Amino acid sequence: MHSFHYENGSLQCEGVNLDNLADQHGTPLYVYSKATILDHYRRLSDGMGELDCEVCYATKANSNLAVLNLLAEEGAGFDIVSGGELFRIEKAGGDPAKCTFAGVGKTRAEIELGLEKGIYSFNVESEAEVALINVIAGEMGKKAPVAFRVNPNVDAKTHKYISTGKSENKFGVDFSVIREAYERAAALPNIEVRGLQMHIGSQLTSSNPFVEAVEKVAPLVEELKEKYGIEFFSIGGGIGIVYEDTLASGDSAWWDKRDEKPLTIEEYSARLVPLLKPLGLKIIMEPGRFMVGNAGVLLTEVLYEKRGSAKIFQIIDAAMNDLIRPALYEGHHDIVPVKEPVDGTTEAVDIVGPVCESGDFFAQNRELPPLDSGDRIALLSAGAYGFVMASNYNTRPMPAEILVDGKVAHVIRKRQSLDDLIAGEMIPE
Ligand code: LLP
Repeated sequence: MHSFHYENGSLQCEGVNLDNLADQHGTPLYVYSKATILDHYRRLSDGMGELDCEVCYATKANSNLAVLNLLAEEGAGFDIVSGGELFRIEKAGGDPAKCTFAGVGKTRAEIELGLEKGIYSFNVESEAEVALINVIAGEMGKKAPVAFRVNPNVDAKTHKYISTGKSENKFGVDFSVIREAYERAAALPNIEVRGLQMHIGSQLTSSNPFVEAVEKVAPLVEELKEKYGIEFFSIGGGIGIVYEDTLASGDSAWWDKRDEKPLTIEEYSARLVPLLKPLGLKIIMEPGRFMVGNAGVLLTEVLYEKRGSAKIFQIIDAAMNDLIRPALYEGHHDIVPVKEPVDGTTEAVDIVGPVCESGDFFAQNRELPPLDSGDRIALLSAGAYGFVMASNYNTRPMPAEILVDGKVAHVIRKRQSLDDLIAGEMIPE
């Protein structure tokens, strides 16, 4: 589900007009739909309903306190990757006891914090890490709950920067040595072996790699259950979303239908539940993008048009510092004008930002309706890995964020001021 659609000639998020929002709050502006986030969470929990399943939302996808609070209120757990994220979860009203702590490089301070707050599991990525956790837990007089992240050496068939389940990736413990790793960890005095985790990659658009990985790892899970009494198996995140044709009423004549095939939650659960149910364990999922990706847009305004000899450039007020996915992963984001196009006229344009880098573009040779300076456009599917990856590059303040709930728009982060930008900097005496 997504809640962005045209109404009376203008793009809306739920019951809120995006042109009005841009007038009130300026651009670039991130806008999220509460209904969409909740719908995705519920569909996922329902889809896996036959299992004893816990959704631990991958906090990194969108970690605004309001988004985390929304999910905490629904009873979600959280997958975190830093002490900072754990801090956020608590501020947002989340329960540390429902947090899994992932990441290849947890620091001593982060491990201490996780133990102090009583997180559900450290998802450990090396034997060196489990050794340190054992020492720290001993110092604190605690037993640390851990799960190894196994690297099943399965090709997720996604962009190389977000593929994580192959042996050449830095993630997890090699499938070939995982049994020995468990044996040694289980012998450590301050370690409680609690589960097994894997995550093979992000933005998977087929269920096949998930099935392949679960089939490969399931016998290991059974063995670990038998030997160490593990209580959970986390299958990670990675469910891909459709980045094209994401508008609810995509019938406008200019809309060029592509046929990106979505990986539906129905297909995902229909294929995985029968493999997971016989294990008789708690199943954890760590979805990030699926929950929030299509729930957000980046609203921006056209500054100038530049007609060169080779190209037409539409220069907008958002840039790679606001949304880095196209520059970093060649990520596609659909772009739609806020004012609904009146006919099917389009021309091929490059949508580019003001930053001094040729990689600062959002679309190249994209057929879009004619645009004028002052027109607003929305970059769709920007709810995941959008704001969270924003930076101040070129000393550009970070955008504001809005959470729409029906007809109400809540500011959930103020636009950064120029003073915010330099806070913390000092010129030596
Ligand atoms: N669990 C672990 C251990 C992860 O590392 C990740 C994402 C997830 C769960 C959630 O994956 P998801 O369901 O969102 O696919 N910035 C990139 C994506 C990086 C994903 C990193 N890990 C992008 O914009 O495409």
